[in-house]
Amino acid sequence: MKFRNPIFLALLSLAFVCSTSTAANLGAEKHAAKGVNCAVCHGTTNPPIAPETATCIQCHDKKALMEKTSKIKPTNPHTSPHYGDDLDCTNCHKMHSPSENYCSQCHNFEYKVP
Ligand code: HEC
Ligand code: HEC
Ligand code: HEC
Ligand code: HEC
Repeated sequence: MKFRNPIFLALLSLAFVCSTSTAANLGAEKHAAKGVNCAVCHGTTNPPIAPETATCIQCHDKKALMEKTSKIKPTNPHTSPHYGDDLDCTNCHKMHSPSENYCSQCHNFEYKVP
């Protein structure tokens, strides 16, 4: 087998990352289960570059999201007096590590971040 094709090399390195990943419930795995594979978020660059919020909101409408979580207590995680709806998604939703509660740096909001 020859390894000259750059796309093949990119896929090979992606396959390597995939096979070394262990936790089954991380964001990337949940997306894969819905048919959103590595290249949908990362394209085919090698190495993969972290996507920005612009990529996320191609599929997740910010306004719809804000409405959906408007009743979450104590306050909507998708909007705040500080950042409006402009806080980058990956401050909370990690795709390859456990998600985080960004607000808990300063507030005792007990969010369960998927
Ligand atoms: C839903 C979008 C999404 C999917 C699907 C996804 N990733 Fe990612 N990936 C990200 C984000 C966002 C980051 C930045 C770090 C984080 O949030 O976990 C990242 C970071 C990375 C990085 C580190 C790059 C850097 O510069 O930080 C690698 C390598 C990577 N992903 C590989 C993969 C592989 C392999 C797959 C398929 C199994 C995959 N990703 C699927 C969104 C995604
Ligand atoms: C190609 C479309 C697509 C892209 C791009 C995408 N997602 Fe998703 N995402 C989905 C689908 C489909 C689901 C499963 C159905 C749902 O919950 O909406 C999902 C689910 C989720 C969930 C809920 C997971 C759960 O446990 O319920 C979160 C959080 C999420 N995405 C965040 C992100 C973030 C952050 C990014 C950008 C790094 C991103 N998504 C990029 C399509 C996408
Ligand atoms: C401050 C942390 C935070 C940020 C930033 C954030 N989220 Fe969330 N997100 C949450 C929490 C908490 C939930 C769970 C709400 C609940 O309990 O139902 C959630 C839920 C979701 C869900 C699942 C909604 C559902 O019930 O179907 C999706 C999809 C999602 N977020 C996408 C995004 C996207 C896309 C962005 C960026 C535009 C983003 N989030 C920014 C904290 C955050
Ligand atoms: C760097 C610290 C910091 C972070 C991070 C932070 N906040 Fe705040 N927030 C404050 C301070 C300080 C106040 C004003 C004092 C107060 O009322 O608690 C405040 C006030 C608020 C208020 C109005 C206060 C009230 O009780 O009516 C809301 C709502 C709020 N924050 C939501 C959020 C959300 C949602 C996040 C995460 C997306 C967040 N904050 C992240 C420091 C922070």
